[in-house]
Amino acid sequence: MSRDPQQYTERLEQTAGFLRERLGAAPPAAMVLGSGLGDFVEGLDNRRTLPYREIPGFPVSTVVGHSGQLTVADSPAGPMCAMQGRVHFYEGVDPWEVVVPVRALAAWGVRRFVITNAAGAVNTAFAPGDLMLISDHLNLLGDNPLCGPNLDALGERFPDMTTAYDPRLRDLARAAALRAGVFCREGVYAAVRGPSYETPAEIRMLRRLGADAVGMSTVPEVIALNHLRRPVLGISCITNMAAGIREEAMRHEDVLETTRRVRQDFASLLLELTRDLSAEE
Ligand code: HPA
Repeated sequence: MSRDPQQYTERLEQTAGFLRERLGAAPPAAMVLGSGLGDFVEGLDNRRTLPYREIPGFPVSTVVGHSGQLTVADSPAGPMCAMQGRVHFYEGVDPWEVVVPVRALAAWGVRRFVITNAAGAVNTAFAPGDLMLISDHLNLLGDNPLCGPNLDALGERFPDMTTAYDPRLRDLARAAALRAGVFCREGVYAAVRGPSYETPAEIRMLRRLGADAVGMSTVPEVIALNHLRRPVLGISCITNMAAGIREEAMRHEDVLETTRRVRQDFASLLLELTRDLSAEE
């Protein structure tokens, strides 16, 4: 992958051109669906799907539960686009690579983004199966996708992160959750590099730092989208209590099992949300 700013931005434009050619005009909003949360799109009409490996420039993930495809579909509320699967820092890919998909979708013309993930509860009042609107984050990845030469064509050198998670989109999500009859918590998401789960001492540290949930994704995309000045909504599906809260070992299968249990609630919330995301602006 080239870190030459000109080559990199040309590659984004090529990817965007390919999406325009194959899928038409960009829908107003895109959703990035986290581990095990990908199947809600299967209920939507008029689906057109492209595996990531067929999209020039798109990185391909290697994780179980991330199938790696882009779908455009008609929800009852309007057109929408969903990414099932993403690449993570822990896969060892360049941070610039991790944010190629959201940057390419933005170059295609997508205005608003919903970034979702599976996360462990650091807040002991939370329970597996809860959904959490992300109010803010702690970037503990030890890296940032904006490091290196600034891509002036995309955004400024020192982007503001005061409202990294758009308060207006969060208002829409709260209202959508009420209509869908889905309970949502709100809180701070801490992104760690992984891929090992945290130790109980690390979870106690995260709690003291103000984290409510912990995961290994989302933050790179959110930083890149703030750089682009695109509004972002973040939603965590709480799949497990973080390490040391309960006397049990951490297992990726449990994470996937919880997402299977809550995918109906999650789908209802996302469907309600597409109504607002397609209608507003
Ligand atoms: N820690 C980190 N990432 C996660 C977790 C967790 O407990 N659950 C789901 N993703």
